[in-house]
Amino acid sequence: MSAVPAPRLVFVPMGMEDVERVAREEAAIYAFPWTPGNFADSLAAGYSSWVAREAGQLAGYAVMMTAIDEAHLLNISILPALHRRGRGSALLDHLFAVARGHGATRMFLEVRPSNEAGRAFYARHGFARIGERRGYYPAGHGRENAIVMARDL
Ligand SMILES: CC(C)(COP(=O)(O)OP(=O)(O)OC[C@H]1O[C@@H](n2cnc3c(N)ncnc32)[C@H](O)[C@@H]1OP(=O)(O)O)[C@@H](O)C(=O)NCCC(=O)NCCS
Repeated sequence: MSAVPAPRLVFVPMGMEDVERVAREEAAIYAFPWTPGNFADSLAAGYSSWVAREAGQLAGYAVMMTAIDEAHLLNISILPALHRRGRGSALLDHLFAVARGHGATRMFLEVRPSNEAGRAFYARHGFARIGERRGYYPAGHGRENAIVMARDL
């Protein structure tokens, strides 16, 4: 008996019609989620915003800002039921290609020190810690610092 082939992940520019659904997933993933308004503002600002679908279903999404030769990754998320099977890597590779296409030579991001999965994921993809922003994120008690990471593209 042959194995069932994995459905193919496709990357589609996020549209206003995706915002409600994406924000619902966001609220299930993060303790301090982006709101629908944050996603709508990103679209209005022209940020590079993507949904990843497979078999027509939402698998993940990402938002990235590009400016001159720098890209800034603002959000990358895969639906929890689909973690650890290469989808986040495929989405990130897609963003690398898009950023290079915009002329970016370096990508930056912030991650919570408490987000061990995120930190391991970024380290696996060549991001190195370049600094810290104090009190960057809201947290349960007060604020949490952000680790700033970067890699060449
Ligand atoms: C971070 C995230 C996008 C990774 O997506 P994913 O599809 O699970 O990632 P991949 O399967 O492509 O993982 C690639 C590698 O990253 C590392 N990694 C990913 N998740 C990890 C975890 N939970 N613990 C340790 N390492 C992890 C591993 O090296 C992994 O390779 P391996 O599975 O062969 O060991 C996903 O965990 C997610 O959506 N998390 C919630 C949102 C978030 O924290 N986003 C990023 C910070 S803003």
